[in-house]
Amino acid sequence: MNNAIISGTGFHLPENVVTNFDLEKLMDTTDEWIQERTGIIERRYVKDGVGPAGLAIPATEMALKDAGLTVSDIELIIFATSTPDYYAPGSACILQHEMGFKNIGALDIRVQCSGFVYGLSIAHQYIKTGMYKHILLIGAEVQSTAMDLTNRGRDTAIIFGDGAGAVVVSATDEDRGILSTHLHSDGAFLKELWCELPSSKMRPRISQEMMDEGRHFLFMNGKEVFRNAVTKFPEVIMEGLSANGLTPEDVNLLIPHQANTRITEMVRRRMKLSEEAVYSNIHKYGNTTAASIPIALAEAMREDLINPNDIIVFASFGSGFTWASAIIKW
Ligand code: UT7
Repeated sequence: MNNAIISGTGFHLPENVVTNFDLEKLMDTTDEWIQERTGIIERRYVKDGVGPAGLAIPATEMALKDAGLTVSDIELIIFATSTPDYYAPGSACILQHEMGFKNIGALDIRVQCSGFVYGLSIAHQYIKTGMYKHILLIGAEVQSTAMDLTNRGRDTAIIFGDGAGAVVVSATDEDRGILSTHLHSDGAFLKELWCELPSSKMRPRISQEMMDEGRHFLFMNGKEVFRNAVTKFPEVIMEGLSANGLTPEDVNLLIPHQANTRITEMVRRRMKLSEEAVYSNIHKYGNTTAASIPIALAEAMREDLINPNDIIVFASFGSGFTWASAIIKW
């Protein structure tokens, strides 16, 4: 039997804390508005020159140590990021070189807020087939450089932050691990949360004129995203639980993508979960896209909130739109 467990977790946040009060100085907003609408108090921004691969290094070191493994044990790198260091090559390749991994496969996936859960599904399949024993899965983002820190971008800029989370997915003979993953998308909503430029459809891919229009910043139609998120989160969680003959009462801990406290709270109520059964750390880090679930998982582990045989649920919703869930018997 080739079951897949998460054998190690790690995370890393840049040192630079950006509070709501710091944002008040840049745009017409208030700490009160941001906290009330999102639950966010502060987020972290990288210093110039640091990309997602750089953030992923300490997170990976922590995850490898936690798993009792070294770089030479890893057989595949999956790097989920919507904000890659470069257009080409992928951030997984950069990490492979900078950390001295063997010449193993290095795969970037671009599924925005659902990137980590999609990545987990890929790792799960490779382990189940017996192809690999240890896979490194990263979720890392540098969103701060895509934020329009003026009034024009205030509804999006207040939400996002930078960070990295890492897990090692390993094979086991034990009767536990990832039970299933469930992935979805609907590209009809692509422009509701997107970063248009640079685009290979443009010649040149970006120009000063396009930048003056702010088309290189992340754009979000917050209301539309919110409306869909509060429906799709419960749907995809229920899909995962039902597929395994489980109900919300069986869930020990739901770790949702940290999008907005109000979204998480609406999902929690709809699913009739207790406050203790839903993990939240968005107040400290904002929305870190693909990094938010692995960061939250690594923190929950260190807070002793996860015990053997617990039913743990990951769920995500974001740009694409994409949404996904994973059900794990820990
Ligand atoms: O990870 C991917 C998924 N992303 C999400 O899940 C985000 C989902 N959406 C949201 O979290 C919310 O829609 C926001 C927090 C982005 C916005 O909250 P909202 O309750 O939907 O506010 P709104 O866009 O309806 O704006 C309400 C008012 C507007 O003013 P008027 O038209 O009522 O006069 C906005 O102009 O708040 C204004 N506003 C702000 N005021 C202070 C918008 N942004 C700000 C701001 N500070 N930063």
